[in-house]
Amino acid sequence: MVDLHHHLVFGVDDGSPDLETSVAMVEMAVSDGITHIVATPHANAEFHYDREAHEAKLQQIREALPADTASAITLGLGCDFHLNFENTTSIQKSKETYQINRGPYLLIELADTSIPQRMDELLYDLRVLGLVPILTHPERNATLQRSRNRLAEWLRTDLLVQVTAGSITGNFGKTAERVAWELLENNWTHFVSSDAHNLTRRTPRMSDAYKLVAKRVGEDIAERLFVTNPLAVFEGRALSAQPEPKGVFEEEEPSFWKRLTERFR
Ligand SMILES: [Fe+2]
Repeated sequence: MVDLHHHLVFGVDDGSPDLETSVAMVEMAVSDGITHIVATPHANAEFHYDREAHEAKLQQIREALPADTASAITLGLGCDFHLNFENTTSIQKSKETYQINRGPYLLIELADTSIPQRMDELLYDLRVLGLVPILTHPERNATLQRSRNRLAEWLRTDLLVQVTAGSITGNFGKTAERVAWELLENNWTHFVSSDAHNLTRRTPRMSDAYKLVAKRVGEDIAERLFVTNPLAVFEGRALSAQPEPKGVFEEEEPSFWKRLTERFR
C-alpha cells in the first residue's frame, strides 16, 4: 500500500515528536504492508513549513532505519497544506515548496468545522498554477458531513478526494465512519491514507481499512484506492480513468410531488 498522508517528520508539528518515534512509525507501516510513505508536515497558522529542513530530517530518518526496513520502504515529501490566506499567497511564489515529491499533486486541508468562503476561487488558482489538489478527509469536516452539495460541486470540477483509513474503521466516530463509507460506495474518493500522527491513537496502519473496503466494496476498488492511485501520485503520473462519481453529474430525480403534478397538467 502507498500512504500519501503521514506526519512522519519529527519535531515539526503535532506528529512524530522525535527520531526514534519516526523510525518506529516506519517500522509499523512496513509491517502493515506499506511500501511508500509521503511525509506531509502541516503548513498552517500553528506550524511553519520549511521544505529544506523537513527534507534534512527525512534523510535522518532514512539513515536511521534498520537495513531490512529501509529496503522495504520508499519515503517522499509533501505537505498537509492548510487553505489559509498566508499559504495561498506563499504558493503563488513557490509552488514546488509544497508539492508531493515535486510532482503536480498537492494535499489540501480544510479546518475541521468550516469551508473557506473563497474555496472555489482558491481551487481555481491552484489549478492555474498547474497543481492537482487532493482534498484530505472531507468525511471529518463538520460542514461537509451535514451536506454533500459543496463536495459534489467540487467533484464536478474533478477535485480528487482522500479519505482517512481510521474513518473507515470507525476511529473518528460514527458520523465520519458513515460519511467515509458513503463516499467510498459512491466513487467519491480516490485515495485512502493513514494521516498518521503517532504510534498509539493515530497510527500508520491501513491494512484493516483495506480489508474492510475489499470485503464490502470489492478488492479491485481497494487496490485502486490504497495502491494504484496513490502510487501514481507518489511518482507524479496521471491517474488512470476513474469510475464516475455517482449522483454528481446525473440530473436529479424529480420528486414524487413533481411527477404527480406533471401528470395532471
Ligand atoms: Fe494531516
